[in-house]
Amino acid sequence: MEFFVDTADVQQIKRLNDMGLVDGVTTNPSLIKKAGKDHETVVKEILSFIKGPVSVETIDETAEGMVKDGIRFSKWAKNVVVKIPMNAEGMKAVRKLSDLKIKTNVTLVFSPLQALIAAKAGATYVSPFVGRLDDIGESGMGLIEQIHEIFKNYSIKTKILVASVRSPTHILEAALIGADVSTVPPDVMLKLFSHPLTDSGIKTFLEDAKQWKK
Ligand code: E4P
Repeated sequence: MEFFVDTADVQQIKRLNDMGLVDGVTTNPSLIKKAGKDHETVVKEILSFIKGPVSVETIDETAEGMVKDGIRFSKWAKNVVVKIPMNAEGMKAVRKLSDLKIKTNVTLVFSPLQALIAAKAGATYVSPFVGRLDDIGESGMGLIEQIHEIFKNYSIKTKILVASVRSPTHILEAALIGADVSTVPPDVMLKLFSHPLTDSGIKTFLEDAKQWKK
């Protein structure tokens, strides 16, 4: 399973990239607002050092506007993936961008049939939001299982990009199901390193090695 980092914080992306944890990046307007920089500036900064897929969300409600945004973003770098919301206008845009060989990521997916529609429109990725479903008492991972099964039934090539990840458990469960990608907030990604037995083991080994330290 690939790991994308779900942030527009350039320093955090650099830090995680140095640890070899970044296969790609996902952004959205809220994450870019949080980064406190202009949309184009921050995306271009990320594109200057990330060579894997970088999702950039369109900011228009019409299919025409989304396609226009998508064509503009795709000129910034060849690893740009245009992020499009799941609705009728969005699917018109995905079809058009897919005809133009521009990669897309359909976002705000909350049902298996939305994922199927996105795949049929030609989406490169679908982003089911597991955390937001859990928040309203539904099963985020149940959704991933259903999408995985449907895509398998029809040999669909669209990749399942697990989004709205809130914990390492989400990542573990996504990997066990066989999802293609998890996009993970930096704080959750850092938690993947720790285990209390690793920490105490390192402490003991360093303690025992003290005598030989030059
Ligand atoms: C990523 O593509 C999504 O925009 C993001 O994972 C949403 O996460 P949230 O539900 O924590 O805002």
